[in-house]
Amino acid sequence: MAHLDVKNISQSFGEQEVLEEINFSIDQGEFVSILGPSGSGKSTLFRIIGGIETPTSGDIVLNNESIKNQPGSVSYTPQSPSLFPWRSVLDNVLLGQEIQGKRDRDTALQMIDRAGLSDYADAYPYELSGGMKQRVSFIRSVLSPQPLILLDEPFSALDEFTRTDMQQWLLSMWEEHKRSIVFVTHNIEEALFLSDRIIILSNSPANIQREMSVSFERPRNEDLLLSHDFLEFKKEIYKEMRASHLPS
Ligand SMILES: Nc1ncnc2c1ncn2[C@@H]1O[C@H](COP(=O)(O)OP(=O)(O)OP(=O)(O)O)[C@@H](O)[C@H]1O
Ligand SMILES: [Mg+2]
Repeated sequence: MAHLDVKNISQSFGEQEVLEEINFSIDQGEFVSILGPSGSGKSTLFRIIGGIETPTSGDIVLNNESIKNQPGSVSYTPQSPSLFPWRSVLDNVLLGQEIQGKRDRDTALQMIDRAGLSDYADAYPYELSGGMKQRVSFIRSVLSPQPLILLDEPFSALDEFTRTDMQQWLLSMWEEHKRSIVFVTHNIEEALFLSDRIIILSNSPANIQREMSVSFERPRNEDLLLSHDFLEFKKEIYKEMRASHLPS
């Protein structure tokens, strides 16, 4: 079970205020995307939730207990994750599980297969493309046993079709296991396709500009991407974000 409360989080680096009083909650089993322009502070917020960065003020609460400054309480992988160069693909994806003292090799191999990497299970990171590495670290985060998963732009290096496949796969896994997911992206379509709810961050300093519920039926498939309602919703979010990000 996972219920997360982000409480009044602010963060400054010297004079620069990056996050300003961010408040939101994630319910058990919810899929929430955080959408915001580049440089708005999404990864900073994730590092704080992941327990590896200390906010200037505020608290992070998981199931009524503070997890501020406590790495490992949630599954967190940085935006540009590093794989261990001396470990094979299979051993890299099992890392999160090993830390908790277990190793589900069969599931890991199935996932590697689903990600189109079955020929690479025994390969080492230097043999992979950037997009392949991204898929490996994505599998590692999903395989980690924590009930809340933070995903920071996990598909940004993938071509459109591979990206759509990985999104559908993520949804099918999520529908099966119902862990809570917080997903960072600056891609409006991706946020809409995946989420129950979207939190739009404003820029400099970031605060919550708007929250929107996304009620498209599940399970969702690619057809949704071209439907009238989907495109209308996309337009609405585009306008909302454009308004706070006018060309200079
Ligand atoms: N440790 C740090 N020291 C100083 N400034 C930092 C530090 N970490 C982040 N910043 C600044 O905070 C701001 C937000 O950065 P962050 O990486 O959180 O943005 P982002 O929303 O994840 O961007 P992107 O979409 O490009 O990944 C940037 O201006 C960045 O320069
Ligand atoms: Mg980022």
